[in-house]
Amino acid sequence: MTSVLDLENVSLTLPAQSGPVDILRGVSLSVTAGECVAIVGPSGSGKSSLISVAAGLERATSGTVTLLGTGLGDQSEDQLARLRRGKVSLVFQSFHLLPTMTALDNVRVPLEIAGADNILTRSETLLRDVGLGDRMDHYPGQLSGGERQRVAVARALACDPKLVFADEPTGNLDSETGRGVADKLFSIVQEQGASLVLVTHDLALAERADRVLTMQNGHLLT
Ligand SMILES: Nc1ncnc2c1ncn2[C@@H]1O[C@H](COP(=O)(O)OP(=O)(O)OP(=O)(O)O)[C@@H](O)[C@H]1O
Ligand SMILES: [Mg+2]
Repeated sequence: MTSVLDLENVSLTLPAQSGPVDILRGVSLSVTAGECVAIVGPSGSGKSSLISVAAGLERATSGTVTLLGTGLGDQSEDQLARLRRGKVSLVFQSFHLLPTMTALDNVRVPLEIAGADNILTRSETLLRDVGLGDRMDHYPGQLSGGERQRVAVARALACDPKLVFADEPTGNLDSETGRGVADKLFSIVQEQGASLVLVTHDLALAERADRVLTMQNGHLLT
């Protein structure tokens, strides 16, 4: 099976006022095409950091990260951005929506950058699918936390990605809306044959993945 993501013995150490902090301690992980992997574990165990390193947003201190067949170690920021564009999507714990753009534009503009087809229809359909049909022209500041999160999910799915990283994508949603958004996430990923790396505290959601891994104090337990 082709793997879309490979981490080998990855560590991440970051400086802090009180001295260096070992955040990831020798993490290895392989995700194959079409596979859904859930990562659970206590707050502060390194789950979001793992996603940052795997997606090339943060450089590993040691070890190797291979994303869609490309080793990330010697890639420049530009090369990393080009590698991700249209192929790797992220749903951040803190959403990262652009505050000066409406919900619709937050979904639409990345598609334009990726040069996709049927951009407007696709963006509108996805926003409707996550229950935001009547909020498309709202700016992020005019949306609730959960609504912002749903825009972030719609945006992540819009470009037909090969790999989606989602960090607590339903963490701010009531259980019914959360289930709807999770259904959308799983069904689109499945339809497109994409892979999903999903961080969640929701064990019922984690169990829908092909594999559930636990992060503990910088180690990924298998
Ligand atoms: N820039 C940084 N510099 C120093 N330490 C950091 C930095 N970012 C995160 N950390 C520390 O790294 C550890 C792991 O953080 P991370 O955000 O990956 O945890 P998490 O498992 O995603 O937690 P949560 O479930 O609360 O989101 C935490 O102890 C955090 O304080
Ligand atoms: Mg986190």
